[in-house]
Amino acid sequence: MGLFITFEGVEGCGKTTQIRLLADALERSGKSVKLTREPGGCPIADKIRGILLDAANSEMTPTAELLLYAAARAQHIKEVITPAMKAGNIVLCDRFTDATLAYQGFGRGLDIDLIKKLNETATGGCRPELTILIDCPVEIGLGRAVARIEAGSAADKNHLREERFERESLEFHQRVRNGYLKLAADAPERFVIIDGAGSVDEISTRIFEAVLPRIN
Ligand code: TMP
Repeated sequence: MGLFITFEGVEGCGKTTQIRLLADALERSGKSVKLTREPGGCPIADKIRGILLDAANSEMTPTAELLLYAAARAQHIKEVITPAMKAGNIVLCDRFTDATLAYQGFGRGLDIDLIKKLNETATGGCRPELTILIDCPVEIGLGRAVARIEAGSAADKNHLREERFERESLEFHQRVRNGYLKLAADAPERFVIIDGAGSVDEISTRIFEAVLPRIN
């Protein structure tokens, strides 16, 4: 069996850059790595991602949103994560079940026990061994995320407008951040919190140091 590691954090915390750096470093040291993300990771889940993140879908109800995340995850687990684990890969996933607890639970206020049950159903009990939470103030993260969106739409007129969450209030993102910190405090054996305020190199070194003992 492989090793399952997830990355979490608020918008613009830097996790997508960091997950790629970790994947490169692990591959250079001879490991087989499967890099994937949620929502998405396979064609059906990518289509669901398009619906979930489209800024035009502002009328989507929180319950519809929750069920779509669960649907995308069920497909992603079956098609991507379980086979990659069985093949002995280190699976690095950009967001996973904790994102649903943080965003739909703490952010939207949906029932946490219901979300846990849906997560369990969607994953069939597959859980990460390690979760890297890159923590940063929401003002800093949102500033970076909005700059990235603006650069993307200026460069490409067909740029997908995946910005439904960036349009939420600062209070929403603050609840998400606090939710992540609570999840980490409740499961210290699984979570490593990394301060997202450092340089890209400093953060990647800290992440590598956190991952190394789990690999060897
Ligand atoms: P990304 O920007 O990291 O690719 O994530 C896409 C967005 O989806 C991000 O705003 C967080 C949100 N999200 C949820 O609300 N619930 C979930 O379960 C997942 C996986 C992501």
